Order: sequence, then C-alpha cells, then structure tokens
Amino acid sequence: MLLGGMGLTACGGGDDAVVAPAAPSSTLLGFSAVSKSLTDAVLVPAGYTASVIYALGNPLTAATPTFKNDGTDADFENRSGDHHDGMEWFGLDASGKPSLTSTDRGLLAVNHEATTDETRSSFFLHANGGTSTLPRPAAEVDKETAIHGVSVVEVKNTSSKWATVPASTFNFRLTALSENIQLTGPARGNALMVTKHSTDGTKTRGTLNNCGTGKTPWGTFLTGEENWASYFTRSATDDTTRADKSVVALKRYGRNAGSGSLHGWESVVSAEDKYVRWNISKLDTSTDGSDDYRNEINTFGRFAHESAAFGKPVAGQPLAVYMGDDSRGEYIYKFVSTKAWAAADANPTDRITTGDTYLNAGKLYVAKFNNDGTGSWIELTTTHAAIAGFATYTFADQADVLVNARLAADAVGATKMDRPEWCATNVANGEIHFTLTNNSNRAVNSTTMPPDSANPRVYSDIKNGSSTQTGNPNGHVLRVKEGSAGNAATSFSWDVYVFGAESSAAPGTVILSSLTGDQDFSSPDGLVFSPSTGIMWIQTDDGAYTDVTNCMMLAALPGTVGDGAKKTLTYAATAGTLAVDTYVGKAPTADKLKRFLVGPKACEITGL
Ligand code: FEO
Ligand code: CA
Ligand code: CA
Repeated sequence: MLLGGMGLTACGGGDDAVVAPAAPSSTLLGFSAVSKSLTDAVLVPAGYTASVIYALGNPLTAATPTFKNDGTDADFENRSGDHHDGMEWFGLDASGKPSLTSTDRGLLAVNHEATTDETRSSFFLHANGGTSTLPRPAAEVDKETAIHGVSVVEVKNTSSKWATVPASTFNFRLTALSENIQLTGPARGNALMVTKHSTDGTKTRGTLNNCGTGKTPWGTFLTGEENWASYFTRSATDDTTRADKSVVALKRYGRNAGSGSLHGWESVVSAEDKYVRWNISKLDTSTDGSDDYRNEINTFGRFAHESAAFGKPVAGQPLAVYMGDDSRGEYIYKFVSTKAWAAADANPTDRITTGDTYLNAGKLYVAKFNNDGTGSWIELTTTHAAIAGFATYTFADQADVLVNARLAADAVGATKMDRPEWCATNVANGEIHFTLTNNSNRAVNSTTMPPDSANPRVYSDIKNGSSTQTGNPNGHVLRVKEGSAGNAATSFSWDVYVFGAESSAAPGTVILSSLTGDQDFSSPDGLVFSPSTGIMWIQTDDGAYTDVTNCMMLAALPGTVGDGAKKTLTYAATAGTLAVDTYVGKAPTADKLKRFLVGPKACEITGL
C-alpha cells in the first residue's frame, strides 16, 4: 500500500529455502578488521577483493552504445541510472527461474536515488555542465528524469569474475516518468489522488528518490521513495488559491507556498505533461484537481521512506512490515497485513497478485517508546480519538490518514526519532533493528525534541579541529522485541544495540558502547541481515567523522534486547537537571563487531 512492489519477470519454479543458523557463530567474523582510512579507494580485509559490477551509464541492452561519460551520452532509459542506493539480490537457476540458493547468477534490483545537482556542474550528464538557472532546457531535464528510478540487471559470476549481462531479457529500468504505476490500498481512487493524468485517482507515473529497499517473503522487490517532496514546486500564492486544508498537509511535508523544486523540471518552456506535472500549484478551476497537478505529490512516498523490513513470516500470523521516516524528529511505522501468512505463498506462480493480497489491506501503526524499556504500536485510524479530534487537520477518511501519515502520527503523540534510516530483522531471533543516523535538532532545552529514552544523547563533537556539531552527531542502532502476539503485537520491549561514537571521543561526548578503533563508526544508515549467515551488516552515510575516515561497512553479531543495562544520563537544562533513562545493549566485543570495508572519498556505503 505505501510502497510499490515490483515483480521480477521470472515466475514460478523457485526451489529450496535458505535456512538461517539459530545462533550465529563468532568465528564468522574471522577476518582482520579494516582500519579507518581517508584513502580514495575501496578497502577490504586481506583475502577479499572488491570490483565494480554495474556503474552509472552501463548499457542494459545489446544495442545501447558504450558509455562515454563526457556529457554526450543519451538513452538513460536503457542505462544504469545515477547515485546507486539500496539493492536486492534475486538468484536465478540455470534455466532462468527464481532460486533462493543461487549465488553465481541472479538479478540485482538497484535504486537510483538522485543525480548530481546541475548547480554543481554535472559534466558527465551535460557536456556544458548543465544549466543552473530557470527555465531549464528540455533536453537536460529529459536526461535527469531518465537517470532516476530503479534498474533491474542480470549479473553472472564466471571464474570468480562478476559482470552484467547487457543482452539479458530480464534487464529493465524504471524512471521518473515510467507509465502505469498503479496506486493500491485504501488510497486508490481517493479524492486525494485525482490528477489530470488519472482523473479516477488510480495511477501515477514514475518513481522518485529511491533510497532503501526491501524484499518480500514472496520474492519481489520493494523500493522506498525518500526525498520525493523536493522535486515539486509550489507558487508563492498557492496558499491563497487553494484556501483549504491541503495547505496544512503540504506544509507538513515541506512544501510551503513558494517552495522551489530541486532541479526545476517544471520550468521547461512547454505545455507537455511530463514537465507540467512537477508544479503542484492549483492552476485550474476544477474543484477536484482533475485538470491540473495539485494532487500529484500525494501519489509518491507519503513519508521519507528508507527501507522496509518484514518481520519473520509465521504461518497463520499476519505479516508485519517495518519502516522508518528519514527526517529529523520523524517516526517509525509498522504495517500489519489483514491476511495471515500461508507458507505456500513463498513461491507463488504470480508474485504480484499474491503480494496484493498481503499489502493492500491491513493496519498502519506508529511507534511510541516509553522510558521503562517498553513501547507500543499505535494504530493510525480514523476511529482513534486523537486523530478524529485533531485540531491541526481534519481527516476525511482512512485514505486521508494514510496519505497524511505524518499528521496522524503527530496527533497520537508518537516518539520523534533521530532520523530513522534502514531497518532489518535479525534472522536468529526476529528482533527488528533500526538505524537512527544522527539528529542535529536534538537539544536539551528544545520544547519539541529534547533527549528521550530512545533518543537519549545530546553532546558536541568537533570536526577538523574546529567546527562543532551538536545534537546526536554519531547516531545509534535501536532494536525492538515484539510482544507475545509477534507480528501483530501492539506492545514491545526495546534497547539500543550500539551507539555510534569515535573511539577516542572528545570529553563531553556521551560514550555508551565503548567502541574500539576497529569498531568505531558514525551515522549508521544501511542495515541488512544475511539470511544465510545471520551477520548484520551496518553501512554508514556520515558527515561527522569524515575528517578521520571515509564511510564504511561493519559486520556485527548482535545479541538480544535486554542483554545490557539501564543507564541514566543527566543533563543541565534551563529548567533544572534533566535525567533520561536509557537501555544500552551489552558492549560488542572484538569478535562481535568489526569493520569490514572502508569506501572511497565522499561516498555513502549502501546497497549490500
Ligand atoms: Fe537516502 Fe536516508 O538516505
Ligand atoms: Ca570528531
Ligand atoms: Ca540512506
């Protein structure tokens, strides 16, 4: 319902399931830790190698010319897009059928989150570096919309050498303009979805700012749309023109009247729909929005989606899908399906139809973390008193609650988090881990975001010997253990698996996990559990510790919620001492958390 599931074209014939170890062995992390580094290279432990498989511009058809990388290339609908982010593996057997065990032939589904901003001169995309003033030329915008979206590309390992299969019939791209993106769930056909392109509110075009990913238990791909709102522009007078509650919703999603768009795609001098659609001002006279694109923004994301992780599927129980909203002070969500899981659906003949039966009907919850190590999932529904009586915004129906999930979560008093990035389910014990990457708005005397039990740290970090970063600059990884109802639980317990920090942090930093130089990191983002080894991989997208090291990936064998201890942090606040109880997992030993990879300069590590 909130994420678009895209099926891969191979159907049926899948085979043996991967069996996860009950308790991963510490000997799994037998490699020598990689040191922090500012070298412009990919560093991996002795005995491992790293190579490029699929890079920007790589052809996806046999007929697509080799990428010249000089700004003259076209045809990005048939090439790799830009800014690879989340990625999922779909194994194929020798006959091209889905295989859960294949490790030498498969499809990579790759998100292309963004493109290099033309104001910073993207010479690989535009031979002249691009036009940074408005109006933008149509030819430049056409390349930029095509370089966004998702790739599916076949890859093969031959004699320990990985390569794409450019002529594979499985290869395809989604771009920001792909046709026939169906809207599903309660919002399908709702008044909030009506546009000139889809006057019955059932479809949209394209996908935007694809960040984290997910994989369904029936073997399809989920792509999260993160900062989609920034692609749309609103006129300075649009609040007055609209003069209805949609103004409240647009402001909550960061689109104030007068907001310019990230790339100016709407500015092309043309009446063509593919440019006009990026202007979400009320431009025409219809009452329902069927003659303009005032509602176009509602057909994307609905919060800044990172990844989506399924709780362990249990036959007879509903499925749970965990999701984070990556913005400072935003929330963690859980979707619970109406339909109970049937094991036969792990390998259905029609994966898209099967997926619809689980994802089109269910309940959406938001997380509230209590200061005693417990928490609750609060259902976002029109019948919740705080939502029904919300003074800020009047919800018309359940579709309105889902489309404006941030407002509904505000109404019920959910916990404002330190930027929820990826989430992942521990294959050994079912606990769900969430990366909270950092939060510069967390402040002791803040009226809206003071430190709380689940986001307990406020401190200063110095970068490059002089610049001060405040709030929670290094982030943490939180974990949740569901109550006895499992995927359907509305209560849980939680603690923090690990707090990011510099191993030799400055005085005043709140050090809680005692990380060594082989373990220390900042700003956790990507998070994936290997289904076969049980190793949790942590990837960073950092700007705080980058005076000392490029971004990195670490391997972890986390324990369980409650294996550590309660700790009380005390802060000197204007109103007196502020005491915050938090719950810190057992400090990871050298054999349970270790740096595996450091990337080149200025990178984000993602896509495991
Ligand atoms: Fe696209 Fe929140 O990282
Ligand atoms: Ca520092
Ligand atoms: Ca990310």
